[in-house]
Amino acid sequence: MKKGFIFDLDGVIVDTAKYHYLAWKKLANELGFEFTKEQNELFKGVSRKRCLEILLEIGNRTATQQEFDTWMVEKNVDYLKFIENMDASEILPDVPKILEYLKENNIPIALGSASKNAKPILEKVGLLPYFDAIVDGNNVTKAKPDPEVFLLAAKHLGVNADDCIVFEDAVAGVEAANAAKMISIGIGEKNILKEADYIFNDFTEISISFIQELIEK
Ligand code: G6P
Ligand code: MG
Repeated sequence: MKKGFIFDLDGVIVDTAKYHYLAWKKLANELGFEFTKEQNELFKGVSRKRCLEILLEIGNRTATQQEFDTWMVEKNVDYLKFIENMDASEILPDVPKILEYLKENNIPIALGSASKNAKPILEKVGLLPYFDAIVDGNNVTKAKPDPEVFLLAAKHLGVNADDCIVFEDAVAGVEAANAAKMISIGIGEKNILKEADYIFNDFTEISISFIQELIEK
């Protein structure tokens, strides 16, 4: 059967976690508390709304609905400033090698991300033309670990869910791929992403022959 490849964005294609961190840290500091890089790990793959809820829990703060909405907007305005000058140099190593191989072999490619900023980021780094479908935070109602984002991506690609392969750096994302009955490939640490079918530190460890095997399986 025809295979489809689905990529998460943040932490898989580009390392935006550092910019998300700077924006959340700025907000935390304005609200009078600290936010550490370790705590930022909890935010990977997590929707913007849920991130703010966790941030407020960390700072032991409550918010009115109006404050909550204002802070969501403020964080995103700051994040957009931090990513304003992003370019192709921020693409994670060997990602283009894999995308190029899939394109050459007419294998459909989708993005499956929680971010509402996914499309402009792909545009900035010049990878938008590789993607046949983009499903992001603007198109889904249920956040990862719910499989909605990946199931919708498979639908857009016209590929059966169990013929899809997902690249993910977040635990919630690996869980979402597994729940969608897709092959999950964790990009990151083995002890964190242990639920994934395969785990690599980054794309430099992924060979073209491995991709070929996945396509032919
Ligand atoms: C990704 C990131 C999260 C981020 C989420 C929403 O999943 O890993 O850290 O909170 O996207 O991103 P957004 O760009 O919409 O705020
Ligand atoms: Mg991610």
